[in-house]
Amino acid sequence: MKVDGTSYRTIWLADDGHTVEIIDQTKLPHLFKVVKLKTVDDVARAIADMLVRGAPLIGATAAYGMALAMRADNSDENLKAAYDQLMATRPTAVNLRWALDNMSGALDAVDFERRAGLAFTRAACIADADVEICSAIGDNGKALIEGHWNAKGKRGKVNVLTHCNAGWLATVDWGTALAPIYKAHDAGIPVHVWVDETRPRNQGASLTAWELLSHGVDHTLIVDNVGGHLMQHGLVDLCIVGTDRTTRCGDVCNKIGTYLKALAAHDNGVPFYVGLPSPTIDWTICDGVADVPIEERDAAEVTRIWGRTGKGKTGSITISPDGTPAANYAFDVTPSRLVTGLITERGVCTASEEGLTELFPEKK
Ligand code: MRU
Repeated sequence: MKVDGTSYRTIWLADDGHTVEIIDQTKLPHLFKVVKLKTVDDVARAIADMLVRGAPLIGATAAYGMALAMRADNSDENLKAAYDQLMATRPTAVNLRWALDNMSGALDAVDFERRAGLAFTRAACIADADVEICSAIGDNGKALIEGHWNAKGKRGKVNVLTHCNAGWLATVDWGTALAPIYKAHDAGIPVHVWVDETRPRNQGASLTAWELLSHGVDHTLIVDNVGGHLMQHGLVDLCIVGTDRTTRCGDVCNKIGTYLKALAAHDNGVPFYVGLPSPTIDWTICDGVADVPIEERDAAEVTRIWGRTGKGKTGSITISPDGTPAANYAFDVTPSRLVTGLITERGVCTASEEGLTELFPEKK
């Protein structure tokens, strides 16, 4: 996507062919800063501290982390050490495991001296494949938005509610939940997006709003508690969210608060869709509530809030009494029964094992 007229992906290689460059997402929307990653330690820190975040981008970044590790030391011991180090960065997004398994399976099978070259090529393939996948999700989801537009007699706008950031910043390009919105907007379908701020880290307020503004998509920022009210008053035509891990039975793990939106959507008859790239499907589990590991992050993300002052300085302030304990669960699970459909790169299916295996018969 474009930033001030220049096309960017969220991750790319510098001209030297091996330094990895990323956009530091902790600084957005107030500062657009590119950061260089030169070692596997740099990559692990960038993922854990959320300079890069979003399930697909975490996977692609970890793949480049393996490549940097192999460039430094192509031994079996280092292959395993890099895998373990990167795997420990964040627990919930399954794309991390998917990318690391993909990389280590290929690297294991070749001679030491071929490992670094192969690793960079394979990481680039993972990144390119993500762009293709997200673009296809965009096409498949655009058709749904167009259906709503037609059903409204092509009057007004199609109102979509989204949670967190599942836009191009969460992927290598295009996004998952936002790809259909970009494709619909680019095709001239009038779309308006309700953007949940998404406490505690405010990925909606800082990242989704920035993306939509940059692309010229009509949007309104709302606090996390507003969605139910909007749905009761007919102001949401459909919800589209992303996912960090969806089980083979269609349970959707996504940013904390997604479940409450799905409940409100169900109660109000609002369709609830999930943009789902296939590397985000965890085929090994069925019951998401029982089996998806939910990340718990630093309580300071809840007790403090980051932003920019009127004088243009960025920083964080404390919003609770000193000494108040806080809990910071980063994700929740929306049971499949609350999900209208999964928008994958191969088409839209029901949130069920039958639906998913119909689109991905090789996983039966
Ligand atoms: O904690 P994050 O920012 O890495 O969480 C990821 C998300 O933004 C979402 O949960 C998103 O909807 C899924 S990633 C496309």
